[in-house]
Amino acid sequence: MVVAAGNRILVTGALGQIGTELVEALRARFGTDTVVASDVRDLPNHPVVIDGPYRHLSVIDADAFDTVIVEENIGLVYHLAALLSATAEKNPELAERINIGGLVTVLEAARKHHLRVYAPSSIAVFGPDSPNHAPQVAPLNPTTVYGRTKVTGERLAMNYWRQYGVDIRGIRYPGLISYKAPAGGGTTDYAVDIFHAALKDGHYDCFVRADTRLPMMYMDDAIRATISLMDAPAESLGESRAGYNVAGISFTAAELADAVAARVPDFTCDFKPDVRQGYADSWPDSIDDELARQEWGWRAEYDLDALCDAMITGIQLSSI
Ligand SMILES: NC(=O)c1ccc[n+]([C@@H]2O[C@H](COP(=O)([O-])OP(=O)(O)OC[C@H]3O[C@@H](n4cnc5c(N)ncnc54)[C@H](O)[C@@H]3O)[C@@H](O)[C@H]2O)c1
Repeated sequence: MVVAAGNRILVTGALGQIGTELVEALRARFGTDTVVASDVRDLPNHPVVIDGPYRHLSVIDADAFDTVIVEENIGLVYHLAALLSATAEKNPELAERINIGGLVTVLEAARKHHLRVYAPSSIAVFGPDSPNHAPQVAPLNPTTVYGRTKVTGERLAMNYWRQYGVDIRGIRYPGLISYKAPAGGGTTDYAVDIFHAALKDGHYDCFVRADTRLPMMYMDDAIRATISLMDAPAESLGESRAGYNVAGISFTAAELADAVAARVPDFTCDFKPDVRQGYADSWPDSIDDELARQEWGWRAEYDLDALCDAMITGIQLSSI
C-alpha cells in the first residue's frame, strides 16, 4: 500500500554529533513539533529529547521504522544513524548491519511512503588510489569497512532514485568539528578532542602524526550545507546527488595544534599515532567541491581561525 507523504520530519541518529545540531536548526526553522528526533540510545536529559518530540527507534527494525513513519506523519527523513570509522573497524559486522541495513530500512520506507531522504556519505569513500585533491568522480576503493559501507550506501541510494524515483540526497562530509555534542568515534575526532583537552588540561596527545592533513569542516557549515542541499530544486541535481563532495578547510594536525596554542597559553601537544593513522593515510588531503558549487550553490564560510575562535568560545561558554 502506498501512503501519501506526511508533512513532518524524522531525524535518525539524532543524539549524535550532527543530529544534536541538525535537530536544533530544523526545529528553529520549521517549528519544534514538526521535527521528530529518534535514536537507539536512551539519553533522557539530552536537549534534543527534552526540547521536542522524540522516538526511541533502531533503524535496523524495519517494522518499527514503518510504524513511526505512519504514526508521526513523516514526509522527510534525515538519516544520520550509523557507526563511524573507528568504531566500525572494531565491529565490522555490526557496522554493515547498521550502515547498510539501516539505509535499506529507510530507502524501503521511502519507496513505500513517498518520503524524501537525506543520507550522508563521507570522505571515507575515497581510498589510496584516489588523487590527494579528491575529485567528485574518482575511483572509490576504500580500505576501511566504514568507507565500503558508505560506497555501498551511495550506490544503493542511486538505485532507489533511478528505479523508484526516490528523492534522495547526500553529502560526503569531511571531518566535522563542533562542541555541542561529543564526536562519535571517527578518525577525525582529534580535531574536536584537542580543544577540550587544551582548555581542560593544557595538553593533548594527538593520535595522528603532526603532518597528517585531512579535509575538515566546522559544524555550522555542515548544517548549512545539509539544509541547502535539501532546499535545492530537484532538477538542479545530477548524478552525484547521493554523495556530493563539499570542501571546508584542510589543515595538518600540527597546524591545528599551532592555532590552538596561539589561543591557549602554554598549550602543548604530543603526536602519538595509533591504528587510526592508517585510516587517515588512506583518505585525501583536500576535496574538490566544484560540482556542489555549480549545482546547489555551496560555499564554506569558516576558515581555520574562525573555526578555532568558535570552538574555544563555545566550549568556554557552555562550561559556565
Ligand atoms: N561526524 C563526522 O565527522 C562525520 C563525517 C563524515 C560522515 N559522517 C556521517 O554523518 C552521519 C552522522 O554522524 P555523527 O557524527 O552524528 O555520528 P554519531 O556517532 O555522533 O551519531 C550517530 C548516532 O546514531 C545512533 N545509532 C547507532 N546505531 C543506531 C541504530 N541501530 N538505530 C538508530 N540510531 C543508531 C547513535 O546512538 C548515535 O547517536 C553518519 O552517517 C556518519 O557516517 C559524519
